[in-house]
Amino acid sequence: MQAETTPSQNINFEVLSHPYAQKDLKYLLKSVEKLPVTIWENSLDASRHIARSIALAIRQKQQDGLPLVLGLATGSSPIKVYEELVRLHKNEGLSFRNVITFNLDEYYPMSPDSRQSYVYFMHEYLFDHIDIPADQIHIPDGTIEMDKWELYCDEYEKLIDSYGGLDIQLLGIGRTGHIGFNEPGSWENSLTRLVKLDAITRRDAAEDFNGIENVPYRAITMGIGSIMKAKKIFLMAWGQHKADILKEAVEGPITPNVPSSYLQKHKRTKVFVDLSAAEKLSRIRTPWKVGICNWTDNLICKAVIWLSERVEKPILKLTDEDYSENGLSDLIIEYASSYDINIKVFNRIQHTITGWPGGKPGEDDRHRPERARPEQKRIIVFSPHPDDDVISMGGTLLRLVEQGHDVHVVYQTSGNIAVHDHDALKFIEFSKESIASFDRSSLELYGVFDSAEMFLKSKTSGEVDRPSVRRIKGLIRRSEARAGARFCGVKDSHIHFLDLPFYETGTSKKKNLGNKDVELVTKLIEKIKPHQIYAAGDLADPHGTHRVCLDAVFASMHKLKRKRWVKDCWVWLYRGAWNEWPIHEIDMAVPLSPIELEKKRKAIFMHQSQKDHPPFPGADVREFWQRAEDRNRMTAALYRKLGLAEYEAMEAFSKWRGL
Ligand code: F6R
Repeated sequence: MQAETTPSQNINFEVLSHPYAQKDLKYLLKSVEKLPVTIWENSLDASRHIARSIALAIRQKQQDGLPLVLGLATGSSPIKVYEELVRLHKNEGLSFRNVITFNLDEYYPMSPDSRQSYVYFMHEYLFDHIDIPADQIHIPDGTIEMDKWELYCDEYEKLIDSYGGLDIQLLGIGRTGHIGFNEPGSWENSLTRLVKLDAITRRDAAEDFNGIENVPYRAITMGIGSIMKAKKIFLMAWGQHKADILKEAVEGPITPNVPSSYLQKHKRTKVFVDLSAAEKLSRIRTPWKVGICNWTDNLICKAVIWLSERVEKPILKLTDEDYSENGLSDLIIEYASSYDINIKVFNRIQHTITGWPGGKPGEDDRHRPERARPEQKRIIVFSPHPDDDVISMGGTLLRLVEQGHDVHVVYQTSGNIAVHDHDALKFIEFSKESIASFDRSSLELYGVFDSAEMFLKSKTSGEVDRPSVRRIKGLIRRSEARAGARFCGVKDSHIHFLDLPFYETGTSKKKNLGNKDVELVTKLIEKIKPHQIYAAGDLADPHGTHRVCLDAVFASMHKLKRKRWVKDCWVWLYRGAWNEWPIHEIDMAVPLSPIELEKKRKAIFMHQSQKDHPPFPGADVREFWQRAEDRNRMTAALYRKLGLAEYEAMEAFSKWRGL
């Protein structure tokens, strides 16, 4: 088991390690955060902590011969809590015989046998692995007839009350701010009822349902009033995509527009978040507004960038008054004048810019992001999906090859679930016809394509592809990835496909990172012995493929850290398609000219199966090349606004200092 890190009042060391900070910050935080939040370094440690609190409550009730009434949630947020509860049951004898559960919600209509039902979810993650008696499990019934739901919901509510109410309620938070399926507009006293789902919620569920058109429009959910009756509430939020709504729920006013904000009225709610979900909280984003700060170089840089954006002035034009009028007088006191701070921060940002991402040969590299030597570096670019390399760092990849480095591209997963059936059919038909016209002896292969074709033509909505179809879809992505990398000048012998096993489930739900995954990554790194590694440093989604792929790289580096060459291997993190690093976290910014940006676009176009309308576009309607360009232009524009040189676009990297 991994050692547990503490919740991170510690993480925000910049504020809290200051000798005077504790008292002031606590006092001030109260006026900013209206719910008690603990920030954890990662969702795994936080989930284990929550599971242990639940286990403790179960055992205490057991001692008194009483039942524990547990309100449960589904979705990605509680998965690791359930995994830990199962572990505690299996390894530490935790019994659930005295536990009575009530789930928050269920889609409507929904058959309990469907893979998308919350009944299926709960059994898969929890109930099938613990000793809870079946008659103590309650999940809203998605098959209830339309004219009976009122009575049904009434009885659900009364049943909870008959057990004395919920002792603990576990909650996730939706991007609409919903808890349960209480969407914006829900009223405070609402009880269990049939509701309509918000468009954003349906879009977020599209991946599980293989397309938004299959997501139900309604759900049965406990109400805000039902939730508020719980004696204790644990709200969880993991990942950057929750950061905006979490801030509103925690720091904003109580409003039906953000149903989770009602929790501010509940006396015993605790909020558990990871660092990425906490990103927008004032204590992380603008700690100088909520407490006295310990001014590290990083924090100074962050504050100056914030100030420059706020007063809309380039860094070198910021005055003492700008600092004082915007709550940053502490900085002036420490530094004596804005002039010194401005220069210090300006130079730091200036030094992140380089057109030589692999280092500039023969130059003094003291103020450059990369080393000048060795002049020709061995480089690995890890790409979680087969197109992240060109989407997120296509311009840099082009430069690295042009500047003579020995560049390998490693595609970590097959990406097979993101190929449309109609695209696969096109290739299958092509292959069948090729075999029929050129090589009649390959009957066996013909048979493979023939049965794949039959499968796809009779495939029902939501059905998982059979292995041969997944393989074909994976091969389609391979050919596109090869075309993209080749377009950037990467040699065929330097294009690698790992097909990491954790990804190969055929559904959007992936397995946890396993030894085999780490072994495959480690072997490759060891073979190439790179001077530079580029990897997708995505923190956006704790269950997402990018996160697991990054963990595989980190785990490999830890395994290899005693090897001599590893100390010369620098790891640069790029962000995935959706977000860029905040400026103060950028250690290397690679400018792109208009021509380079156009070349990058062409490399992205090689991924034809992901063009126009990929199967999993996420909440953003723009195509990948558009997102990439907008984001790269935006980074350049931000640098410009801070008073640095004006470029067409920029790709940004943060250096990993984890070893
Ligand atoms: C699930 C539920 C929802 C989720 C919320 C967050 O039973 O009631 O409110 O908790 O949509 O979903 P995830 O955890 O998937 O981000």
